[in-house]
Amino acid sequence: MSLATVDLRKAFGGVVALDGATVTFREGRINALIGPNGSGKTTYFNCVTGMIRADSGTVTYGGTDITRKAPHAIARAGVGRTFQLCRVFPRMTALDNVLAAVRPGGVSGGLRGARHRAEVDRARGWLTRLGIEHLIDIEARNMSWGQQKLLELAGVLMGEPATVLLDEPAGGVNPALLDRIGTLVRDLNAEGRTFVIVEHNMDLVMSISDHIVVFDRGRPIAEGPPSLIRTDERVLGAYLGS
Ligand SMILES: Nc1ncnc2c1ncn2[C@@H]1O[C@H](COP(=O)(O)OP(=O)(O)O)[C@@H](O)[C@H]1O
Ligand SMILES: [Mg+2]
Repeated sequence: MSLATVDLRKAFGGVVALDGATVTFREGRINALIGPNGSGKTTYFNCVTGMIRADSGTVTYGGTDITRKAPHAIARAGVGRTFQLCRVFPRMTALDNVLAAVRPGGVSGGLRGARHRAEVDRARGWLTRLGIEHLIDIEARNMSWGQQKLLELAGVLMGEPATVLLDEPAGGVNPALLDRIGTLVRDLNAEGRTFVIVEHNMDLVMSISDHIVVFDRGRPIAEGPPSLIRTDERVLGAYLGS
C-alpha cells in the first residue's frame, strides 16, 4: 500500500519543521527521503507514524486516512519504523528485545507453550536473516552500534510490516555492515516490502533507491529516480547551501 501525505505541517514553537509536505511513497518501491540536516525528515516520520501529531494536513496509507491514529494502530496497519538514535532495551538479550517488539505487555506476558515457541522460532529466524543469531543471548548494551541497529530492525520485522521506514540505517555503521544493509533492503523489497529510507550516505541511496524525494526546509523540492536527482540543480543547491 502506498503511503501519502498532503500538505503536512508541523511547527515547534517558532521553528517550522514541516512546511506543507505533499508526498507519495508508492507501494513496492525502495523510496529514499533525503535532505540537509534539519530539513524535517525525522519529523516527517514522527508525524506519519503517529508519534507526534501534525498541526495540519493528512496522512493516508493504502488510501485510508491514518492522520489521527495512534502509533500502535499505524504499526498494526503495516507501517514499521526504526529510529535515528536506535531504540533497543539495553539490559535485555537480543531474543527478548525481538520478542518485546511484538509484545507490548512484556516478554513474559501472555504467550505460553506452542505459540511462545513459534514466536521464538520466528525471532530466531529474523536474527539469523540479519546475521546476528550468534548474539541471541547477549544483552543489547554489549553489542556494537551496528549490531544494535540490526537488532532494532529485527524487532521491526517481527511485526511483519508491509512498509518499513528506516531513519538513517547506515549512520555510524562500518562499510561491511553497510553492504549487508543494502543487500537486505533489496531482498526484503523483492519479497514485496515497501521502503522509505532517510539516509545521508549517497552511495547507498543512489544504489538501492527506485525513487528519491528531496526535502529542504520541511517540504519536497525535487523527486525522481537517482539518475535525475544526482544532477538536479535544486538538490545540489540545497546541499551546498546548508
Ligand atoms: N521535538 C522537537 N522540539 C523542537 N524542535 C524540533 C523537535 N523535533 C525537531 N525539531 C526541529 O525541527 C527541524 C526539523 O528537524 P528534523 O525533523 O529532526 O530534521 P532532519 O531529520 O531532517 O534532520 C529542526 O529545526 C529541529 O531542530
Ligand atoms: Mg533526522
